[in-house]
Amino acid sequence: MEKPTVVVGVSGGIAAYKAATLCSLLNKQGYEVRVLMTEHATRFIQPLTFQSLTKHPVIVDTFAEPDPSEIAHIAVADAASAYVIAPATANVLGKLAHGLADDMVTTTALAVQAPLIVAPAMNVHMYEHPAVQENLQVLRERGAIIVDPGSGLLACGYTGTGRLAEPEDIVRVVEAVLKRRRDLAGQTVVVTAGPTIEDIDPVRYLSNASSGKMGYAIAQAASNRGAKVRLLSGPVALKPVPGVEMTYVRSTQDLLEAALQAMSAADVFISAAAPADFRPASKLDHKWKKSQGVPVLTLESTPDVLAAVSERKKSGQTLVGFAAETNQAVENGREKLNRKNLDLVVVNDVSEPGSGFAVDTNKVVLVGKDQSQALPLMSKSEVADLILDEVLRIRARQGSQGDVSKQRTPKEGFGNDGSLEERFSKQRTPKEGLSSGGGQTP
Ligand code: CTP
Repeated sequence: MEKPTVVVGVSGGIAAYKAATLCSLLNKQGYEVRVLMTEHATRFIQPLTFQSLTKHPVIVDTFAEPDPSEIAHIAVADAASAYVIAPATANVLGKLAHGLADDMVTTTALAVQAPLIVAPAMNVHMYEHPAVQENLQVLRERGAIIVDPGSGLLACGYTGTGRLAEPEDIVRVVEAVLKRRRDLAGQTVVVTAGPTIEDIDPVRYLSNASSGKMGYAIAQAASNRGAKVRLLSGPVALKPVPGVEMTYVRSTQDLLEAALQAMSAADVFISAAAPADFRPASKLDHKWKKSQGVPVLTLESTPDVLAAVSERKKSGQTLVGFAAETNQAVENGREKLNRKNLDLVVVNDVSEPGSGFAVDTNKVVLVGKDQSQALPLMSKSEVADLILDEVLRIRARQGSQGDVSKQRTPKEGFGNDGSLEERFSKQRTPKEGLSSGGGQTP
């Protein structure tokens, strides 16, 4: 079995020396490692160090082209199973976010089709600068995995966030990313997302504040992992997810019809939408004028889409629901799990800052039939991957995972044992991102 190739891009910060440890650890894990450096990086550490560790030449000059039969940055990009940029300086983050390509590291980033993992390192004030944060946000939204820097004493003398994540933590992220690659191939995942709208009259409606971000993140993650994805979306301000079949709905009744139709072909149904629970018993076909006085609305319940889908659940199908709770998350989540006959409920702790509607982060508890796992605050795309990890575990237990396990290479299949919480706590401490920081510079 060919070893996966991890391409490591090193940019010019004091933490560049830690990239040597990173390459050494990746090598020990059995990966082929190819190193690209910016000119500035070579002022901190010699290419020869990486060449000796990886047994491959290091590319610094985009135009050197040592092998006339290929174009170096395309060949190395095509060979990559993952591209890790560590350390990523503020300058490189800016270039990545804006598609600039004036060195080997950033030029290759545009050509790479494999997952991009970015580990920033810089002075705390630079890291907190809105420009840097916006660039990181752009990269996150584009699907890059950001390994957050840790906190501690920085090379510049300041104490704060900006230390490159520990190489061991970066390796764990690489392993998790490679394990997930294509592990949903052959499966059809249906996701519902966003609010629904119940019209009162032609200009007024009932709805809620759901942004759809969580459902869209799940659709994106499932698609990245090789699933055929159908996203049933209420009205949201988000762009369609590339590679995903989009169906737009307006009312809860519309969503019900689309869901029942999609459900017949689904292996996994994930109900992340927040459908309106009530609608006017009758819709006015003309605009209610103020001169008519205050209208009295009689409401009725809308159909429960997930409950209806669940009633038609066939063996081999996995159903995931969401629940927004402010207290007794696990108890309330399990009540919903049982009531709607679900395999997993993702409880959103909406009382937590940074959790719930509209924001890009979420803090959830995954409630299964016999166990529950509280995850720390993290980006919705990370939550999405962890939900899908759990779905795959449930399906493997139910024996409905098909041939998926056979599609993994041995090196891609590690870290599969242990509970989700255990695996996750190895990756990060709550609120600190994917690295734990501490210790000395940088
Ligand atoms: N759901 C649905 N159709 C509805 C309402 C909710 O499919 N009309 C789905 C949501 O997508 C979510 C789950 O059901 O997956 C939420 O369950 P629900 O019992 O409605 O819980 P809450 O919305 O949290 O409301 P409550 O706590 O009042 O029961």
